Amino acid sequence: MTTSRISGFYNMTLEERREKITEALAVQTPPDLAAWTSGGLSAEAADHMIENVVGMHSLPLGIALNFQVNGRDVLVPMTLEEPSVVAGASFMAKLARASGGFQATTTDPLMIGQMQVINIANLNEAKLKIYEKKAELLEEADSIDPILKKFGGGARDLEVRIFNDSPIGGFLVVHLIYDVRDAMGANAVNTACERLAPKIEAITGGKVHLRILSNLADRRIARARCTVPVKDLAFETVTQDGILRYSGEQVRDGIIAAYAFAAVDPYRAATHNKGIMNGVDSVVIATGNDWRAIEAGAHAYAVKNGQYTSLSTWGKDAEGNLVGTLEMPMAVGIVGGATKVHPAAQAAVKLMGVKTANELAEIIVSVGLAQNMAALRALATEGIQRGHMSLHARQVAIAAGATGEMVEKVAAQMVAEKVVRIDRAEELLKQNNEGKR
Ligand code: MEV
Repeated sequence: MTTSRISGFYNMTLEERREKITEALAVQTPPDLAAWTSGGLSAEAADHMIENVVGMHSLPLGIALNFQVNGRDVLVPMTLEEPSVVAGASFMAKLARASGGFQATTTDPLMIGQMQVINIANLNEAKLKIYEKKAELLEEADSIDPILKKFGGGARDLEVRIFNDSPIGGFLVVHLIYDVRDAMGANAVNTACERLAPKIEAITGGKVHLRILSNLADRRIARARCTVPVKDLAFETVTQDGILRYSGEQVRDGIIAAYAFAAVDPYRAATHNKGIMNGVDSVVIATGNDWRAIEAGAHAYAVKNGQYTSLSTWGKDAEGNLVGTLEMPMAVGIVGGATKVHPAAQAAVKLMGVKTANELAEIIVSVGLAQNMAALRALATEGIQRGHMSLHARQVAIAAGATGEMVEKVAAQMVAEKVVRIDRAEELLKQNNEGKR
């Protein structure tokens, strides 16, 4: 069985870490981790991916440890530029392990395609006429993608909505509900909408204007929950003012109060959800999925009841343990698009051993929840800057020109002084160089 617990990972070299994760995987053929050393993508493949290519843009790829999702250990690849995120997710996954890790579920992978029908004389009549032909329309939509159909996907439902009042007056919107199985689904759904459009026009006498997938993928939901024993939340930390001690109850109640803030205030909810997306997006990017689609869906879903709010909830169970839940749209695929052609993304999918898009979605939503817990725990106790600062200080030191052991030295000095700025890093480097002369 694969283990996601690797001790001392943090202090290993990159090469040692790659060896360790290969060892930790209980598979015959490990993923091609060379894709991560080279950045993965050849110039030729990149040139076929988008337009006007002139080069490549790299981001760090780290592995989040300790994750157990639905009873299975999983090593989670995370691609992002922000310090503390991988460490935060790994630490929270460790705390959640004591109660079995993350329990996650998904709905069927149903995406929504939208057709806007304009120039209609009677909207109510047109709506009913479409419903009268629903079976026929679904049959046609179902036959469009034989591959998807072979794997159990296809058209599932059709819904008609009326907008009476808009800047152009009234129009209809037809929703085609499509099971896209292991694909992200944009291509399948857009194709189906384009193909159905002439039929809708013939039925309604109107004109089908837009034909496009909706990123508010509220029929394709991923859910995760976790429980952290209250005693495991206790910790102490050394500060300049002495040792700060937090009881488990204090941390738990601090996290719950932080959640309450996001639940009622959109200004806080935006930042709270950003913390969730730190975890979500980094796995979405590592697997070559469309993170803009995931972002759009997440934030639109967060406002589904009329006020923008937290995507997660935090509370306690009957024993006083901390309980977290997260529910959000998760339109990710493991076939097609960059996931299929980008070697680094293929390695990421293989590392996690996922066989379906839903399994990937279940891991991603668990990482989002872990990340949210990490941010709230820090905010509710010592504050976010302490953990953040030491890694940030290293980046500032590098930006100022520090190399080798000077990176740590300059960073440590700036953290001690609580002045993490490029001008201070440059000054410290200058002092060091003068000292050597
Ligand atoms: C920073 O990238 C994310 C946080 O702001 C999230 C939060 O405030 O919950 C720390």
